[in-house]
Amino acid sequence: MSGTIRVLGSPPRSAPVLTGETILASLLQAGVAFPHNCQAGNCGACKCELVEGDTLELPYSEYALSPEERAQNLILACRTQAWGDCVVRLLDAEELVLHPSRVLRCRLIAFDDLTHDIKGLRLSIEAGGPYSFSAGQHAKLKFAPGISERDYSMANRPDEAELEFHIRHVPRGEASDYVFTCLHLGAEITVSGPLGNAYLRDNHRGPILAVAGGSGLAPIKSIVETALGADPQRQVHLYFGVRDERDVYLESHLASLRERHPNLTVQIVLSEPSRPRARREGWLTDAVSSDFASFEGFKAYVAGPPIMVETMQRALRGKGMAVRDVHADAFYGQADDAFNAR
Ligand SMILES: Cc1cc2nc3c(=O)[nH]c(=O)nc-3n(C[C@H](O)[C@H](O)[C@H](O)COP(=O)(O)OP(=O)(O)OC[C@H]3O[C@@H](n4cnc5c(N)ncnc54)[C@H](O)[C@@H]3O)c2cc1C
Ligand code: FES
Repeated sequence: MSGTIRVLGSPPRSAPVLTGETILASLLQAGVAFPHNCQAGNCGACKCELVEGDTLELPYSEYALSPEERAQNLILACRTQAWGDCVVRLLDAEELVLHPSRVLRCRLIAFDDLTHDIKGLRLSIEAGGPYSFSAGQHAKLKFAPGISERDYSMANRPDEAELEFHIRHVPRGEASDYVFTCLHLGAEITVSGPLGNAYLRDNHRGPILAVAGGSGLAPIKSIVETALGADPQRQVHLYFGVRDERDVYLESHLASLRERHPNLTVQIVLSEPSRPRARREGWLTDAVSSDFASFEGFKAYVAGPPIMVETMQRALRGKGMAVRDVHADAFYGQADDAFNAR
């Protein structure tokens, strides 16, 4: 198999087709930067338009690429092999931000209990920098030899020197179990990134809807603080959904942010309160849907458990939001790769 993959854009880029490899792998191996994350057909980060070319598609999740999107000639570059010359176009090329990929040696300098099952990690960068990323992106963290690396979202603003992560304990989860049982202050952690395309769009100036489920607050915190740092008057509506009172975290941090920015609204919503609370109750999607008649001029950023992210995306589309205005990061696990494949 021979041929060339061309990526339309400015500047146009190209790479030879590698036999048995996907379009994404061929591009990356030729050193052509292209948005990606899971490389397993789960996240949608490598979604692009197939302009021309014969291709073979490997299984992927419908969350990453819906049948409607496929009917519009969209493909996942990480699940598509080219049979010869082919041309693809990035969906939001004008918004594409590509930071240099880094492998950082970091040191754990603060380790806090944010809730009963979420730890807050603060890392100093000792080698491998400088590290630049866009608010909302994530990185792969490797905690120790023999422990698989996993994706975690940066919770700090990109202009802060130290990295912050929020890690929820998944029972019997390889990496998060290690974090909760073995990780200690002073430990060395390898951070590779940045990755992901659910990042804050700098050229959008309108209102922001920011929706977080559980530890999805990490990237949403980074997005909200970065947006307010760039424009303190920005209308930002933050929705934070958790199961019960004990799962709420960073509430005083959010309150002090609100004091400084009256244009920020914060709604904390409990889905399964164990007893009546002086809080909003129900599903995040219902709360958002009932609070807004229209999302004209908005962009939405959504992060957290896959089921919440998918339901929220559907609800926002139902309210007339365009796909290009909803930037979502579903925290699926490694095991979901096979589970989700169609
Ligand atoms: C783009 C992205 C960003 C992410 N950012 C964060 C973050 O900021 N904070 C954070 O806490 N997590 C985040 N995650 C999830 C994280 O990468 C891991 O999947 C999670 O920590 C579990 O890893 P593990 O090794 O402990 O569990 P594994 O050993 O991978 O899995 C053990 C079992 O738990 C299930 N499982 C895996 N992940 C989850 C989950 N999230 N919820 C419920 N069940 C699960 C698996 O299906 C499996 O059955 C993110 C994921 C993605 C894709
Ligand atoms: S990188 Fe292709 S779907 Fe995630």
